[in-house]
Amino acid sequence: MKVSTDVLGNFFLRGLIVACSLPLVSQCPNDRDRSIAPCMCFKNEMTCDGITAPQDLQNALQEVKQLSLDKFFLTNSIIPALPSNLFNGCDFQHIVVEETDLPFLTSPLSSISPFMGIVGLITQVELRKVKSLNSWDWTLFSPLKTLRTLIIIECSFVFIPNTFSNLTETNIQVLTIKSSDVWWIGKSALSTLSQLDTLDLSGNKIKTILRDMFPSNIRILNLKDNELKSLPEDIFEDMNKLYLVDLTYNKFETLSLSLFSDFVDKLSPLEIQIEGNPWFCNCSIAWMLNVHYIDVYGTDSTVCASPSDLINKILNDINWVSLGC
Ligand SMILES: *[C@@H]1O[C@H](CO)[C@@H](O)[C@H](O)[C@H]1NC(C)=O
Ligand SMILES: *[C@@H]1O[C@H](CO)[C@@H](O)[C@H](O)[C@H]1NC(C)=O
Repeated sequence: MKVSTDVLGNFFLRGLIVACSLPLVSQCPNDRDRSIAPCMCFKNEMTCDGITAPQDLQNALQEVKQLSLDKFFLTNSIIPALPSNLFNGCDFQHIVVEETDLPFLTSPLSSISPFMGIVGLITQVELRKVKSLNSWDWTLFSPLKTLRTLIIIECSFVFIPNTFSNLTETNIQVLTIKSSDVWWIGKSALSTLSQLDTLDLSGNKIKTILRDMFPSNIRILNLKDNELKSLPEDIFEDMNKLYLVDLTYNKFETLSLSLFSDFVDKLSPLEIQIEGNPWFCNCSIAWMLNVHYIDVYGTDSTVCASPSDLINKILNDINWVSLGC
């Protein structure tokens, strides 16, 4: 008897929830409604795929203005720029552009932000396989005060320009610029992002970094899979919140303990990851095995690349004392 009461109660409750939430659910035009073609709408998401005429995009967005959609996808498209005021009257918080050729974010003639209508709403922008980010006018992101997360993956973004620092007005806490062929970073490109907590620059071609490029409040710095051979002596200076640095799969042969002198008195140790580098195993890196204020991850799987008598020897297995360290 109890079971059936529960089932009944449950049923009733669900009915109640559905009934109550109905007025809040935004209604996408149904399948047969071609008014937003070539875009599609499902629940609170809208996807525009294979766009070649900006006007199609504009017409479709016009149709969904009254709905409270929060996620917008633009995929497999080729358009020169997003129409200015494209998102006027929309509610999108999350914009994803994928596999799209978009040489200008907005027309260079008008320079009006395509984000105008949703300036105070956007929290996340994701760009995947978007070509030619280097010709984008990044100052257009500057008014997006609520922007928290910017993700750039598998785009061609050879140079992170200094105008990127114009995002300083935003609230960017998570910045990913990953697998995007980055070679250079402008000297002040990232330093002004004072809210930045997590910076992922993995999978690029970065050979050189300088302290000035980075803001101070950063907690996680991911430099995995780049071409770094060394770090400047002051790289971690005044990074008081730093707790994780990923240096795996770079070209480090050695790493000086003196880089970490700011962390000596820290309550919790700084974690660094070191696997996949061509380590030269001599006394200069022996500290990795026994410094209390740095947690070196991967010493049980990381091997030496030289000298010849230690090739492929796991760091943990080396008798450092016999090496005279
Ligand atoms: C961002 O760029 C705009 C346009 O170039 C400029 O007016 C503004 O001062 C810049 N803001 C910052 C913080 O650099
Ligand atoms: C250990 O090897 C590195 C890389 O070749 C070198 O820079 C460093 O001077 C060496 N350290 C010692 C103590 O020989």
